[in-house]
Amino acid sequence: MSFDLILFGGTGDLAWRKIMPALFQAFRHGSLPVEGRIVGVARDDLSDEQYRALIKSRFDSVELAKRPSEEEFARFAQMLGYLRMDLSNPADYAALAARLQERPADVVVMYLATAPGLFTTVCEQIAVAGLNGPTTRVVLEKPLGHDLASNRAINQTVRSVLTEQQIFRIDHYLGKPSVQNLFALRFGNALFEPLWRREHIANIQITIAEELGVEKRGAFYDSTGALRDMVQNHALQLLCAVAMEPPINAHADAIRDEKLKVLRSLKPWTPETLSQHVVRGQYAAGAIKGEAVPAYRHEPGVNPDSRTETFVALRAEIANWRWAGVPFYIRTGKRLAGHDAHIEVNFRPAPHAIFNTPQNCSEGNRLVINLQPRDGLELHLLAQGANQRHRHGTPMLQPVQLDLDFDKRFGTERVGAYERLLLDVIDGRLNLFVRSDEQEEAWRWVEPILDRWSNDPTAPRAYAAGTWGPSAASAMIARDGFCWSEEC
Ligand code: BG6
Repeated sequence: MSFDLILFGGTGDLAWRKIMPALFQAFRHGSLPVEGRIVGVARDDLSDEQYRALIKSRFDSVELAKRPSEEEFARFAQMLGYLRMDLSNPADYAALAARLQERPADVVVMYLATAPGLFTTVCEQIAVAGLNGPTTRVVLEKPLGHDLASNRAINQTVRSVLTEQQIFRIDHYLGKPSVQNLFALRFGNALFEPLWRREHIANIQITIAEELGVEKRGAFYDSTGALRDMVQNHALQLLCAVAMEPPINAHADAIRDEKLKVLRSLKPWTPETLSQHVVRGQYAAGAIKGEAVPAYRHEPGVNPDSRTETFVALRAEIANWRWAGVPFYIRTGKRLAGHDAHIEVNFRPAPHAIFNTPQNCSEGNRLVINLQPRDGLELHLLAQGANQRHRHGTPMLQPVQLDLDFDKRFGTERVGAYERLLLDVIDGRLNLFVRSDEQEEAWRWVEPILDRWSNDPTAPRAYAAGTWGPSAASAMIARDGFCWSEEC
């Protein structure tokens, strides 16, 4: 099979950080069809050779195991080309069409790794140049819009020139091996299903913690913030994966229908829950791994008076029979105390106690789905230790843990998120991509939070870089009698 991948934003941060390394891994693993061309598109004046040299320099900073040898890069580079385009100029799309016509491919992937403000222009121009035929697939990166209205406007334009089957809205968290293993755990094994409900689960916590700051993306991030950057998409997709009903089959629409139902069941915000159940923070100066780092407001590209949040913690509820009354806590932030993404399912204690059990709230039955940096499952149980301890004559149980490390079990050379998703686009598999109605529903749910913040003159709560965020996030969960795992 032959393909052309046109990478709009070909010299940008995303192409640099994620897409090119993923394409190279797919090439190395032999899964990228060899009859392929990858054309970077940007405004810079570069020759094919200069673009290849630029991409080659990118690999100097990837981890050693993922770095190509000279010979490997030379072979990969044969697929790479470059086209200078002004994305608002129709003549440049005609030039692109001419380039594609030189060798018509079975599949043409237009990857829009650009600022979302350009999505509608590019899609319209693709259609004007006649490049929206049935072999075309368009990949749209998040954030798709800034709010519900802009998201709808983009979706409307895109759908006026392409069918839903041609539109791949990417959320790279869905491509992570651990998220696919969550689907496998829930829908490929019968073991947990009877327990996966309000009668047995006390609360579910979703944490996506980063040590990184805003890097070189200060200006972009300052107009985006953590709610739009992480919660509206990645965190809510994880919430869907953990809370959805079993789909009737593994086809894209069956999965997406069930995710949509979860989003529709999220309890709407009230003035009270908006003030009690949402915490926003912004990092102040601090230290990460012993190195001093500046405050968010001193990062390049960031407004020195910025009120943009770099941390969000919130409490959600899903109003349906399975989950009524079970709190789902989401927290995500930059410059936190660790690089750690996981989902924690906290089960209720045994209904009748014949043993003494630890009083600590994290030491009951717990299933932890580790997304990164480790990828695996931990099942926390209580057991009788070697030296049986007693309290008032009753045996005292101790926490123990079954630990399944997928990296050890399946090897670290597994297919990464972007690699997996890029191959899915080329093969036309939509399972791990987001449908427009899901996306709109997620925007609808987060919008009252955005509205409240835009009318709130107070600044986000400051937290020192290298900590777990503002203490208000702990207070929020403590009001329900629970705690974040690292605090218990
Ligand atoms: C991106 C966000 O979608 O996800 C970034 O825009 C964030 O701000 C990144 O750093 C996190 O992805 P990962 O895979 O490194 O956890």
